[in-house]
Amino acid sequence: MMQLAGHHALVTGGGTGVGRAIALALAAQGVRVTITGRREAPLRETAGGQAEMGWITGDVTQAADMSRVVAQAARDRGPVTIAIANAGAAESKPFAKTTVQDLDAMLSVNLHGVFNLWQAALPGMREAGRGRLIVIASTAGLKGYPYVSGYVAAKHAVVGLTRSLALELARTPITVNAICPGFAETPMLEESIDNIVAKTGRSREEAAKSLASGNPQGRFVQPDEVADAVLWLAGDGASAVTGQAISVSGGET
Ligand SMILES: NC(=O)c1ccc[n+]([C@@H]2O[C@H](COP(=O)([O-])OP(=O)(O)OC[C@H]3O[C@@H](n4cnc5c(N)ncnc54)[C@H](OP(=O)(O)O)[C@@H]3O)[C@@H](O)[C@H]2O)c1
Repeated sequence: MMQLAGHHALVTGGGTGVGRAIALALAAQGVRVTITGRREAPLRETAGGQAEMGWITGDVTQAADMSRVVAQAARDRGPVTIAIANAGAAESKPFAKTTVQDLDAMLSVNLHGVFNLWQAALPGMREAGRGRLIVIASTAGLKGYPYVSGYVAAKHAVVGLTRSLALELARTPITVNAICPGFAETPMLEESIDNIVAKTGRSREEAAKSLASGNPQGRFVQPDEVADAVLWLAGDGASAVTGQAISVSGGET
């Protein structure tokens, strides 16, 4: 049985795509929600009209930003008991053209960003006596893909972080899990399609078809399907689920 009302969820990257769907789904369950990201406009637009949703700008790659955001969110809406590290970015390049700076940029947002949020949120969860640390990783955290080695390395790393922290916290009322979506219909997917069109001269339709063909269901995952997995993990019924990397990918992996 899902017992979500009374929780306060913080969602990074909550103004767009998967993060937006998660924020709206949690709010619909009566959860107080704070969303964060670097740009004000998408945050303002997503939170607009939601009585129990606030927003605070912040950059997940900056530990000081995540401390400030978590502290302000707690002042505004009570202790953060669900921390969803959703913010991420994917850069596509052949390995031979990938610089160490490119690799650092992928690690910075997709790994350090998660680390920074969880470090900031954990003390409040210990104090509250309940907690859910959730990362939106990717199937790229479970298998390789060509031309995105930095992204895949960072997503594998964050799955490792999840498994390790889950064991450290196993005797506490705090669970730690990763959700691993396959290609999902969001602004990030649009960028990937643009990139394929620019690099190969294929049409948008062909590019989209080639990406969707990796999913055995032959379609893109919908942000709401990722949000549904978050609702389950966030609820009391999932208290025994920790250290898992849950694939939401039509059976891709
Ligand atoms: N779409 C897919 O096919 C897919 C598949 C598997 C996994 N995922 C994962 O799902 C998550 C959400 O992606 P999405 O598909 O919803 O793409 P998206 O719409 O591009 O969302 C990315 C979000 O992250 C925020 N963000 C990026 N860098 C940030 C930073 N340094 N600090 C704070 N916020 C930052 C962005 O907001 P600002 O730019 O305003 O900061 C944006 O709201 C990502 O972790 C992605 O890797 C996506």
